[in-house]
This record gives sequence, C-alpha cells and structure tokens, in this order.
Amino acid sequence: MTDLSGKHILLGVSGGIAAYKIPNLVRLFKKSGAEVQVVMTQSAAQFVSPLTLATLSGRSALTEIFPDATNTQSAWTTHIHLGEWADCFVLAPATASTIAKLANGYSDDMLSVCFLTMRPNKPKLIFPSMDGEMFDAPAVQRNLKTLEQDGCVIVEPEIGELASGLIGKGRLPEPEKIFERVVEALLPKEKTLAGKQVVVTAGATREKIDSVRFISNYSSGKMGFALAAVAAELGAEVILITGKTHLQTPPNVHRIEVESAEEMFRETQRYFPTLDLFVAAAAVADYRPAEVYAGKLKKSSESLPLHLVKNPDILLEFGKQKKPHQVSIGFALEIQDALENAKAKLVLKNCDIIALNLAQEAGAGFEVDTNRLTLIFRDGTIEQLPLQTKRAAAKMIFKKANFFFQKSSLTSL
Ligand code: PMT
Repeated sequence: MTDLSGKHILLGVSGGIAAYKIPNLVRLFKKSGAEVQVVMTQSAAQFVSPLTLATLSGRSALTEIFPDATNTQSAWTTHIHLGEWADCFVLAPATASTIAKLANGYSDDMLSVCFLTMRPNKPKLIFPSMDGEMFDAPAVQRNLKTLEQDGCVIVEPEIGELASGLIGKGRLPEPEKIFERVVEALLPKEKTLAGKQVVVTAGATREKIDSVRFISNYSSGKMGFALAAVAAELGAEVILITGKTHLQTPPNVHRIEVESAEEMFRETQRYFPTLDLFVAAAAVADYRPAEVYAGKLKKSSESLPLHLVKNPDILLEFGKQKKPHQVSIGFALEIQDALENAKAKLVLKNCDIIALNLAQEAGAGFEVDTNRLTLIFRDGTIEQLPLQTKRAAAKMIFKKANFFFQKSSLTSL
C-alpha cells in the first residue's frame, strides 16, 4: 500500500446512500499512515454514524461550526486551522445539494466552511454520487463545471445499479479507487512521458452488415481510456483513436472516434511516422462483411450466409515500418494456449511488449474496471502484474515502456 505518512486529509461527507462506503475509505487512509479529519453534513449523519467515522479516524467527526458553547477548548475557528492543516480536500459522496453550496460559496455548515478555507494550491477532489437523472440535470452539471473552473478535480461517477434500482451513471467508486485518486493527487507525478507522442487505440470496432446492423465485440474502451488518461498525466501528447463508447475523454487527450477497423487503421496510420509509443488496446475486428447491404436486409430466407474478408491488422502494419526509437505495446485477449498465442503475436507484430489478459478470468478483460495482465517482453521475460484497476495497470505499463526509451537514449549517445 502507498505510504501517505504525514499527509493530512480533510474528508467531507455529504448525505447520500453511498456514504456507507466511507468507513472503509477512512480505514484505507489510516492504514496508509495519513491523518484524516472527517467533516460531515447533518444529512450525512443520517446515512453513516459520526461515531463510526470518529472511531476509525481517531478524531471527532465534525458537523457544527459552533461545536459546544460551554466548552472553552472547542474553538469556533477550528475550520480556519483545518484549511491550513489539510494537504487535500476530498468530498465523497458529493450530493447535488453540497455541490451547489460549494459552487456558490455558501458557508453555512462545517463542511462548506472548511472547503472555503482550503489553501488555493491544495488539491480538492469531488466525487459526485446521485441518481443518474440528477447527475445529468443542467444545474448539477453547471455547478460541477464551476467547481472545475475553480480548480477542483471532478471524478466522474460510475455506471451501475443505483439506490433507486435503476441502472445509470451515479455510483460512487469503491473506496480503493477513491484512495488511488487521492494518492495521485497527493504525491507528485513525474512527467516521464514529456515530449513523447503516444497513440492509443481503444474499444471495439463495428463492421457493418447493412445500414442498421454490425458485427462487434464486448470491448468497452475502459482499458484504452485508462492508458490514454495516464499517458496524458505523465506529460505525453496523447492521441486516442477509439471505437464508439460512452466514456468521457480524459483531460489533455485528443480523441478521434472511428467506427470500422479500416477507419481505425486509416486514422492511426497518419501517426505512424511521428509517434514515439503505440499502445494497441483496441479489440479490432479481424474480419468484416465483404459487402455492406444498402438499406435493411429483409428476413426472407431460413439462413443468410455472410461472406467475411480480412481487415487490416493495425499493429502488424505498424510493426513492419517501426523505426528503431519507436516502441509498440500490443494486447492479447486469449482463452486457450494463452501464453503461446501471446508470444506468437509479439513476434509476428514486432512489439516490444504484449500485455496478455484472459477473457474468462473474473475481474479481467472486457468491460470491467480492473485487469490482470501478464507482460511478455521481446527478450522472453515474463512479468505477472496483480489484479488491479485499469488505471493502475496502465501506470505499470508506462513504467516498463520508459525502460525502452531510456535504453534507446543511451544507445544514441
Ligand atoms: O475495452 P475494455 O472493455 O476495457 O477491454 C479491454 C480489452 C480486453 C479489449 C484489452 O485489454 C485487450 O485485450 N485488447 C486486445 C483485444 C484483442 O482481441 O486482441 P487480439 O488478440 O485480437 O489482437 C492483438 C493485438 O493486435 C491487439 O493489440 C490489437 O489491438 C491489435 N490488432 C488486432 C487486430 C487488428 N486488425 N488490428 C490490430 O491492431
């Protein structure tokens, strides 16, 4: 676990059902060595007990600006000292109401007043969590934009089952993920990819059968988007060439949306001469229908043979023209003979690394937020990465890619 000893986290909790996750978040912070001060709204106390949070954090969970008039030890200026004390402000869950307060400078409870006293250079992370319709409401989006403009980091909620029973965007990420984002905000990032052009392919391609139907696969784009986000944070110029997906473009990433493998090839090929690092995380269809029927195919016969032809292999084509300073990382999603197949792909496509993931493994591969990758290197070395978030896996991949850049800069001396 990352060591956060000596770090002070001011943890704001507002009143949403997802507050039930916060005791575990406090435990993670404490385990990492950080000091945690909880400030919570009155309605948050309806969902999670202040006593629980106080016990786990080792500090009273504060709700009142004026704590106890009869106690001369409890100062009404506590909030000002907390703004000075904190290395980071985290609001999780952030409800629509608290978001509105913070965006408009209200200071009528301990949480909002602490937010205002935060020193300007300290990171402030907001984790909205609410019903999907509420999250999309123009007022909420407007308030989040305001907070972003004020320098807060807004961490998108996840899609999944909500308290209402509906499926939508609004779930608070699990405590481990919140912890990871806070670590990133607190610990300085090395811009190890500064000056590098990184091209990432992501998601699934769609191969048209007729005007309304296509062949595709289950790739959500999450792995590719995580790679693009991390590469941008590491200072790279990032071009993300992606199949259709609802995922939001990460900050400082140039997104190019494509539909078919041929289109993805055309767009990616434009960067072949200039890119420094090519990461092919897309699940590109190997075949496409030989003919696309104009209009909608009619249901007239019992069977309908579909004649497929081979698509261009983007990674393979790049491998053929790769310059000595360029690095390429491919992915392999396998079911049987995984290691052998992945090794063969590394050689065939002239990659520096192949990241193997298993389609049938729980928590890995398509659609999920986590992955367990086996990295296979050109010299035959194999490294098994743990099951971790796709962001964390992306970070490890770029750490490895850096060795190749360091090696090539040494040989060019
Ligand atoms: O998007 P997610 O839901 O997060 O899922 C992530 C993922 C499972 C899609 C990803 O981790 C992954 O494994 N991507 C590669 C999937 C794959 O099917 O690879 P492949 O074995 O078909 O191809 C090997 C490599 O060649 C890949 O890097 C692929 O991008 C590339 N390729 C393949 C075919 C083709 N026509 N062009 C290519 O560039």
